[in-house]
Formats: sequence, structure tokens, C-alpha cells
Amino acid sequence: MVDQNSVVLQIRNLNKSFGALKATDNVSLDLYSGEIHALIGPNGAGKSTLIKQICGEYEQDSGEIHFMGENMKGLGVADRAQKGLGRTFQISSLALEFSALRNVMLAVQAKSGSSFRFFKPVMKDQELLEGARTMLDRVGLLDRQHVPAAELSHGERRQLEIAIALALKPKAFLLDEPMAGMGPEGSRNLTGFLNTLKVEAPILLVEHDMDAVFALADRISVLVYGQVVATGTVEEIRNNPLVREAYLGEEA
Ligand SMILES: Nc1ncnc2c1ncn2[C@@H]1O[C@H](COP(=O)(O)OP(=O)(O)OP(=O)(O)O)[C@@H](O)[C@H]1O
Ligand SMILES: [Mg+2]
Repeated sequence: MVDQNSVVLQIRNLNKSFGALKATDNVSLDLYSGEIHALIGPNGAGKSTLIKQICGEYEQDSGEIHFMGENMKGLGVADRAQKGLGRTFQISSLALEFSALRNVMLAVQAKSGSSFRFFKPVMKDQELLEGARTMLDRVGLLDRQHVPAAELSHGERRQLEIAIALALKPKAFLLDEPMAGMGPEGSRNLTGFLNTLKVEAPILLVEHDMDAVFALADRISVLVYGQVVATGTVEEIRNNPLVREAYLGEEA
């Protein structure tokens, strides 16, 4: 259930310029507990820039990001991940030479940030191994655990990235085009999966696949030239003339 009283992620008046280009322009939005909040908009609208600002890859020029009530200012990517901001990337960030299982384990190790692990015998990491397998199972990749990421299909890699995000036990997910290149069946499977995932942690979902967005989103925000031009339910967004003109018109 979407709980409007429970704001997990609060973004206020966020800005980011690259030279003269305002990539995000006074963006404010909230992510509530239990919701999938889709972020849509044309190419170059600033969606990935916003995700990168939230996860700490880009520092905002101005504005505020509060996550679980805490101001994220000055915190880097690792700190924010540690605090529970889970993300996937528009461009794959897997270690291609390693197995699916290894990729998940690496991510968990990186999160724990414990170099002391190098001094431990590998078998001590049974818990890590079991945890990683559980995540692969959840995204439907367990039977592919020993396959190098390089040999996974594009869709399977996207699934693997979600397993990695999951392994970090996030309190919110930032997913940048998880359906990209997945094909109809992969998209359908992922759609079902995200619907169960949002119960654990709300999802800010950047996605171009409008069928998926309309099927999944509890709310949608539309970004055009770095600005949020509308936020609302699926029905409200579908019927918003400004949105139809600025964005949906090209798809209708
Ligand atoms: N590191 C950067 N340096 C300079 N300009 C950038 C940088 N990152 C993004 N931009 C520019 O900022 C604008 C927003 O880009 P962004 O990648 O956030 O768009 P997007 O909404 O994710 O687009 P797409 O749907 O194609 O992924 C674009 O004009 C882009 O060229
Ligand atoms: Mg993008």
C-alpha cells in the first residue's frame, strides 16, 4: 500500500547544470513507502542525471535530498548505498569475466566495505554465498549462477543487476531503464517482479517502456528539459494535455 505519510526519499529544488545546460532544473519529488514512482520524459530530459544526483555520483549544484529523514549532502556513492539507496544503471556495470554468482558476492563484499575479508578463508563466507544465491533465485537466475556475465543474454544481465541491487538490502530502489533491451517476455517477468519488490522498498523507476510504466506505476512524474512538468496517477498523467503534447503525443 502506498503510504503518503511515509516519505522515504524527499527531493527539493534540485539543480544540476553542465555548463549552460540545466540538466535538472528545480526538481522536487517524493518517493513514498510502498510505491513505484515512474520518472518518464524524452531523451536528454535529465532522468539519469537525477538518478545520479540521488545516488551521489553527481553532487547537486543546489537543492536538497533527504533519505530516511537524513540529508544526503556531502555523502558519496558508497555511503548512500550503505544507507540503503539501491540502484541499477542505464549502462551495465557488471564484471563481465566473473560468474553471475561472483558478481553478486562482489557487490555484497563491496557494501560491507570490509577489506579484512581478504584475510578470511573463503569458506567463512558461506553466509555471503547463500545470500547471493537467494538473490539470484529471486530474480530467476539461479540456474545461471555459474555462467560468466559476458555469456548472459542482455535481459539476464539486467536481471543480474537487480539481484545485485537486492543483495544490498536497499530501503529504496533507483532503477534506470531496467527493461531496456529485455524483449516482451523479459519485460513481463520483470514487471511482475517489480510489483512484489515495491512492498519491500519503494522504487523510483526510469523507464521508456510506456506499457510497463502504465501497468506498474502508482504515480508518474514527467521530466521535460530538466523540469518536472507533472506528477500524478497513471490516469492523471494519461489525461494531462501538457504531458500529451510534450511527451506522449509522439507515441500516441
Ligand atoms: N556528465 C555530463 N556532462 C555533460 N553533459 C551531460 C552529462 N551527463 C548528462 N549530460 C547532458 O544532460 C542532459 C540530460 O541527460 P540525461 O542523461 O540525464 O538524460 P536522460 O533523461 O537520462 O536521457 P535518456 O532517456 O536518453 O537516457 C543531456 O543533454 C545530456 O547530454
Ligand atoms: Mg538516461
